[in-house]
Amino acid sequence: MDTRLLAIDSQMPDANVLLDAATILRSGGLVAFPTETVYGLGAIGLDAGAVARIYAAKGRPSRNPVILHVASVKAARELAESWPIEAELLSSRFWPGPLTIVVNRRPIVPDIVAAGGPTVALRMPAHPVALGLLTAVGAPVAAPSANRSSRISPTSAAHVLRSLDGRIDLVLDGGSTFGGIESTVIDLSVLPAVILRPGLVSAASIESVIGPVAWKADPASLNLEPLRSPGTIGRHYAPLIPLQSVEGDGRSTAIAATGSGEQVAWLSFGSPQDGIDDRIRVVAMPENASEYAARLYATLYELEQTELDRIIVDLPPDRDEWKGVRDRLLRASMPVDGRGA
Ligand code: TXA
Ligand code: MG
Repeated sequence: MDTRLLAIDSQMPDANVLLDAATILRSGGLVAFPTETVYGLGAIGLDAGAVARIYAAKGRPSRNPVILHVASVKAARELAESWPIEAELLSSRFWPGPLTIVVNRRPIVPDIVAAGGPTVALRMPAHPVALGLLTAVGAPVAAPSANRSSRISPTSAAHVLRSLDGRIDLVLDGGSTFGGIESTVIDLSVLPAVILRPGLVSAASIESVIGPVAWKADPASLNLEPLRSPGTIGRHYAPLIPLQSVEGDGRSTAIAATGSGEQVAWLSFGSPQDGIDDRIRVVAMPENASEYAARLYATLYELEQTELDRIIVDLPPDRDEWKGVRDRLLRASMPVDGRGA
């Protein structure tokens, strides 16, 4: 199939372009669109056949459920078997925005969306294109990140095309996404609530609204437990070049690798203090968590285009605001069997 690419203004999206995209979705097609986190690959959410096409295009394992995107809290409630007070509080505080809420699902939600489980993940995105598209469609849109399974999530239309060109109907090109890493996923179907995936909404800000939450185990042990949120299994976000995360300063690791003849890039945390061997490709990453997140995937996509043997990354400090970035880096640097970083 030919994949069309349509430019769209990220702040004031053209209604005709949104209508075109909505028409494709309503007829069962696949449309990639920008959200405030990463690009999503959308299909009509209550049509099992359309959602099956997402799995086929991505090569996604059927045991990994997808998020339903909605245009309002009311639309979310219509998909939920029950809407706990925590869902009410969190949605009124963080929606539209980068928080995904897992609740028990109603029977109208197809099995394939939920990977056969009892729950559904719901999110009302803030990006004007995403919200405009949902409004134009007038129905929930299933949308995982718009990348082939186990690859890095796309933050631009070019990233989407790199893995899905020819496999989907349309990409709405609204430029680079603002947030850069995926939404925080919180499971409210259990008590206390559990953060399944750290993201742009921090645990501290969630706890300030609903009180203490539990954490899903850290990435290194994920594949040893039952599949609670299958998308969080090890090495989910993988660059094509091996990535090594280093606690603290990766300088000596980079120097040693270069010394043994490897071509390496070093993603330093902030600008390196002293001069460094010019055979090492140094990328100074921001010391601010939201700026770092916004740049992370684009940096990895760019480095993938090079002939590097290895990417060495300084892990940011283990603090609340850095949890999402650390999680993605640890996952990207895990060996394929998912054990240990
Ligand atoms: O920011 C985002 O969340 C982006 C944009 C497009 O909205 N979407 C995204 O989707 O990252 P995806 O499919 O790449 O990741 C969704 C995550 C996966 O880890 C999946 O396992 C989990 O949410 N998830 C989906 N439905 C679930 C459910 N019913 N219960 C538990 N986890 C669920
Ligand atoms: Mg994904």
